[in-house]
Amino acid sequence: MKIGIYSGSFDPITKGHEDIIRRAAKMTDKLVVAVLNNVNKKYLFSLEERSSMVIESLKDMDNVEVKSFQGLLTEFMEENGIEFIIRGLRAVSDYEYELTMAFANSDISCGKAETIFMPASKQYMYLSSTVVREIANYNGRLSDYLNEHVEMKIRDKIKFQGSR
Ligand code: COA
Repeated sequence: MKIGIYSGSFDPITKGHEDIIRRAAKMTDKLVVAVLNNVNKKYLFSLEERSSMVIESLKDMDNVEVKSFQGLLTEFMEENGIEFIIRGLRAVSDYEYELTMAFANSDISCGKAETIFMPASKQYMYLSSTVVREIANYNGRLSDYLNEHVEMKIRDKIKFQGSR
């Protein structure tokens, strides 16, 4: 069984993430989507909120499993029989960082963790969760970037924060 993993902060999940997940799931028997905390980031949504938006977005997908864990991606992969990491590549600016991560993950797993890059679809090439949060802050149009239920959550969150 070919199992892949796609990890991220998903603060919040966007249609760009979903594009990679849906395409990657076609190439795997099972795809684990790992909702993680990046120690270098401050989040708008809690880990639980981020995970539940990811679960809701992917609920129609039979071979996708949403997980959270702490620690190294490669250790989680080893423990769960996962062979490869899926990463989306957007603009050229992603390349250097993604290559560094791919080499590091390969090194720390003694070559076991393979990384597969998928180009983002054209319309999501410059999309990020930061862009989405920025648009939401100014009450801009988000329907091109977010599913309806995610859009509702981010609008509620920003309203709630503004009322405090
Ligand atoms: N569509 C839309 N946005 C995308 C995207 C796509 N296809 N691909 C990436 N992005 C965005 C993300 O939304 C994120 O946006 P933001 O910074 O504005 O919030 C940004 O690109 C970076 O994404 P990513 O590289 O996935 O970083 P992340 O912070 O979301 O997640 C972890 C990083 C948590 C997955 C990573 O640090 C990890 O695996 N940690 C586990 C510990 C570990 O093993 N570390 C590695 C040691 S070598």
